[in-house]
Amino acid sequence: EKGTYPHFMLKEIDEQPLVMRKIIQAYQDGNGNLKIEDEITKAMLDADRLYIVACGTSYHAGLVGKQLIEKMAGIPVEVHLASEFGYNMPLLSAKPLFIFISQSGETADSRAVLIKVKEMGYKALTITNVPGSTLSREADFTLLLHAGPEIAVASTKAYTAQIAVLAILAFVTGTSKGASVNINLVKELGIIANAMETLCDAKEEFEQIAAEYLPAAINCFFIGRSIDHSVGLEGALKLKEISYIQAEGFAGGELKHGTIALIEKQTPVIALATQAGVNGSIRANVKEVATRGASTCIISMKGLETEGDRFVLPAVHELLTPLISVIPLQLIAYYAALHRGCDVDKPRNLAKSVTVE
Ligand code: M6R
Repeated sequence: EKGTYPHFMLKEIDEQPLVMRKIIQAYQDGNGNLKIEDEITKAMLDADRLYIVACGTSYHAGLVGKQLIEKMAGIPVEVHLASEFGYNMPLLSAKPLFIFISQSGETADSRAVLIKVKEMGYKALTITNVPGSTLSREADFTLLLHAGPEIAVASTKAYTAQIAVLAILAFVTGTSKGASVNINLVKELGIIANAMETLCDAKEEFEQIAAEYLPAAINCFFIGRSIDHSVGLEGALKLKEISYIQAEGFAGGELKHGTIALIEKQTPVIALATQAGVNGSIRANVKEVATRGASTCIISMKGLETEGDRFVLPAVHELLTPLISVIPLQLIAYYAALHRGCDVDKPRNLAKSVTVE
């Protein structure tokens, strides 16, 4: 039920701090340490390469998951679109482990890959929100998102839940491997939950950004470097699927290789700047598009901000920024769709769970 909320999407955006806390609780042992089932840790440690397979928003969470797993657990990761995997199957390593990410656990494209790799004799882990879902039943192992039912077609709380569970998987694997995982993840996820609350309380700011940048827009670009690039892809998907504004996310460094040709007077460009190592270069990209007339909106993070930034996110651990930087993008998409009179929860041509290939 949506209760007092006008839309499920807004309710689900607001539930994100609570979901974060539920995940921390669900994946803690009696001593407050993060845990996952031993057999899953063992499968991770046995693998020489992980293959993440997913669609849409879940694929975008997988892109972030790759960074988390490679940095915390030191296992190479490839991320693949399920719909492409069948005919573009990569050369597999000697000991692969497949990780399927699916909110619904029913996505046909992902299931087709799962069936294929199981036939080939490989092990699979499904990360899903729905216990007992098809992808969960057909895989060897399951990790649950604990996000509660997600009703709006546009996925929001499942994305952040997927990233949090991937972070825990990466952390526990890295720790069991004896890698020096230099992060107190329980504490950092607690900081994330609080930061999420701050953002959910700042809705008017994001409604204002939508009203300022998007009412007449025919397109919108999201730029970022490093992990911000992956979040930009998700911001673009969110905006296009519910507001029907043509939106594209790309790496800041790619601008000069083509996309900058599309920048005209007042083209909206939303830039994420949450990573210290690339702060200078993403800001240089923003200048390049501003010089060509773009309306630029920088969303940065405390400690990295510069005068003129449109919004400054609370400071969180730099590996976990997607968990909070996505919230302004979800809310901007929500308000852009609302202002255009779109059916926010049930956008045209889309189904919540895509059960045909
Ligand atoms: O249930 P799944 O996570 O497998 O669904 C995958 C995509 O269909 C889904 O994320 C879709 O892209 C959403 N509508 C995005 O908001």
